[in-house]
Amino acid sequence: MVSTSSQANILIVDDDQKGRMALQELLQSAGHSVVLAESGEEALRCVLKQDFAVILLDVRMPGFDGFATARTMRERERSRSTPIIFLTGAYEDLSSMFRGYEAGAVDYIVKPLVPEVLKFKVSIFVDLYDKNAALTREIADRKRAEDRLTKSEENLRALAGRLQSVREEEGARIAREIHDELGQALTGLKMDLVWVADRLRTDQKPLAGRAKSMFRLIDSTIQSVRKIASRLRPEVLDDLGLAAAIGWQAKDFRRRSGIRCKLSLPPQSPTLEPGQSTAVFRIFQELLTNVARHARATRIDIEMRVDPGVLTLTVEDNGKGIAASAIGTPKSLGILGMRERVLPFGGSIEITGGPDEGAKVVVSIPLGLQ
Ligand SMILES: Nc1ncnc2c1ncn2[C@@H]1O[C@H](COP(=O)(O)OP(=O)(O)OP(=O)(O)O)[C@@H](O)[C@H]1O
Ligand SMILES: [Mg+2]
Repeated sequence: MVSTSSQANILIVDDDQKGRMALQELLQSAGHSVVLAESGEEALRCVLKQDFAVILLDVRMPGFDGFATARTMRERERSRSTPIIFLTGAYEDLSSMFRGYEAGAVDYIVKPLVPEVLKFKVSIFVDLYDKNAALTREIADRKRAEDRLTKSEENLRALAGRLQSVREEEGARIAREIHDELGQALTGLKMDLVWVADRLRTDQKPLAGRAKSMFRLIDSTIQSVRKIASRLRPEVLDDLGLAAAIGWQAKDFRRRSGIRCKLSLPPQSPTLEPGQSTAVFRIFQELLTNVARHARATRIDIEMRVDPGVLTLTVEDNGKGIAASAIGTPKSLGILGMRERVLPFGGSIEITGGPDEGAKVVVSIPLGLQ
């Protein structure tokens, strides 16, 4: 066997030694690798062990003849589609040629061989085999690349989810500390001030006035602490559920911004994982902030729907619209953050609305089978 740049092998099956050698010489001189078999049985053993680009099969052989050999090859998985060229004597008649095609031949070559014709035919099959092998390799490469991509997407998703939950946990911890430490310190301060104020004489009016303004300052600081803590950890979500928390946030937004909010909420909060409702709530907060900061809108339509298998939150404003360039850029951290938040749940965010159409954002979160 001679090895060439092509990995294709050609199987020559002929009981006649002279015929075999002549073919071997001819094909090797053309740069092909050949394997020789002197009977149908030996040929069948060869095709079990390796693949061939083409099989040159003598029709007339003692024992297993060419037709029987070809038929058996066709029944086997490995050699099912290997091209077979029958080598026949000129004395063969037409009906035996048909038998050959039925047995799985792709072509016939009549002896005595014309070397150029044989070389040409064989080279076509070798070429086909090489191309097929290259294609198979390419498909395998692509499959591997695809698998790697899927894997890294999964990792990214898991990482995004982990990042969000770490952020929420950290926010909750800081909220607790602010609430407990600062809240208690401020309450202590207020009690001390009460003690001092109680001991002021009636003629110490300026001091009493100062104490009063200190009370006001402490009270507003307590309010701020509460606000900061609840921004870090949306307690309303835990207390009221997602739908009510959205309603509460919308009312609060309306009061602060003066922008009208039309609300359509499901009568009951959907059953979501805690991470999911936090994600939707945070996205909603970001959407409202964006409307206040960028839209110059006077009205917002908010709709939350629960359909079988999916929760959608739609926020649509009547403002200046959102530029397509703002949607896809990595600089839009708010929008990117929203996309990251839905990623772990396989959700999506769709943003539409050209100039003067207002902006419309649809957040979809797939729900587990209910
Ligand atoms: N409702 C809206 N109407 C009009 N433009 C909007 C609206 N929402 C977002 N945009 C545009 O999309 C851009 C990206 O929004 P994104 O929330 O990502 O960033 P940002 O609000 O500018 O900054 P931040 O990172 O603080 O959120 C905004 O700068 C704004 O130009
Ligand atoms: Mg923003």
